[in-house]
Amino acid sequence: MFDSALQRQIMGRFATGVTLVTARSDEKILGMTANAVLSLSLDPPLILVSVNKKNQMRKFLKKSNCFAINVLRDDQEEISRRFATPGPKDFSDLELVESKTGSPVLVNALAFIDCQIVQVVPGGDHDMFIGKPLAGETRDGNPLIFYSGQYTQLIS
Ligand SMILES: Cc1cc2nc3c(=O)[nH]c(=O)nc-3n(C[C@H](O)[C@H](O)[C@H](O)COP(=O)(O)O)c2cc1C
Repeated sequence: MFDSALQRQIMGRFATGVTLVTARSDEKILGMTANAVLSLSLDPPLILVSVNKKNQMRKFLKKSNCFAINVLRDDQEEISRRFATPGPKDFSDLELVESKTGSPVLVNALAFIDCQIVQVVPGGDHDMFIGKPLAGETRDGNPLIFYSGQYTQLIS
């Protein structure tokens, strides 16, 4: 019998990177760990992040109208864990700069892409936020990987 536990197990075999989605609304900033992120379209450029309706990030994104996706490095597992917990988020020890949309971006991430939200599409218990990229950058390093419910690293 197919159920959500089996779906989790199957899709857990799909290894992904890990990102920190960040946004600013008024003077507040918020971040959420996410791997349901994809490069939706190249022409025009569009980025998609899927956010659970229960997460505070969903309401926040509707207000901020922007988001940045920060691709985490293999030494940033602690950041991923910290922002995968409900409740207030502590940015105090993180080196951040403000990107074009006002979203805070991590100086030490592997890459970032800063987007203006152009569409919100409901999908079951999630909302899909589609953003038009306005800025971004890549940096050197190795990615943090999430596979089968565990953090891991690339072996080369
Ligand atoms: C590796 C990993 C990936 C995750 N990906 C997503 C995601 O793509 N979308 C989502 O809504 N939650 C995702 N989560 C769960 C959120 O990070 C978690 O629910 C978080 O507590 C939400 O915070 P908030 O309620 O403050 O917004 C992920 C968690 C982990 C550990």
